[in-house]
Amino acid sequence: MNQPIFLIGFMGSGKTTLGKALAQKLEVPFYDLDEEIEKQSGLRIKELFEQKGEPYFRSVENQCLKAFENIPAPYVLATGGGTPCFFEAMEWMMRKGKVIFLDPPFETLVERIQKTGVSRPVFLAHQNGEGKDSLHQLYLQRRKIYLQAASRLDSSTIHVNEVIHMLKN
Ligand code: S3P
Repeated sequence: MNQPIFLIGFMGSGKTTLGKALAQKLEVPFYDLDEEIEKQSGLRIKELFEQKGEPYFRSVENQCLKAFENIPAPYVLATGGGTPCFFEAMEWMMRKGKVIFLDPPFETLVERIQKTGVSRPVFLAHQNGEGKDSLHQLYLQRRKIYLQAASRLDSSTIHVNEVIHMLKN
């Protein structure tokens, strides 16, 4: 495997946790796009949303994604929940490497997000809006885009060995 691996999925789908484990098993570097955005902007994700707004965040997010053009493959990149849904990021990732959609059930996502929601501005915005229905609408809209990925894993807890197995086939 000498291509990049991009992990995509809604908030709470386990992209970072699984990405770290996968990179360790494959002995390749691991990157987290949110961390790259924080390094590049000098602000935490939450502050970036609060101080500059979502459109600005999306443009920095896209620039940080495209900066991976210059990073030698292979590596594993955990993206943010919205990354594939703005600009032509999904097409870009599909062209550059292998895109894996982590797709646990919506209820699992909600449970996980609720535990860590404070630092997730998109979740908070939907929570303060029409609550769970609004979050579900966002999930359904985004899922249509995520489904373009060549590979999808849908168990509630996705184990790294499942990903390795899938990559071999
Ligand atoms: C976002 C998800 C977050 C982060 C930002 C926006 C989204 O990443 O990029 O808060 O739009 O769903 P995680 O999916 O890692 O929570």
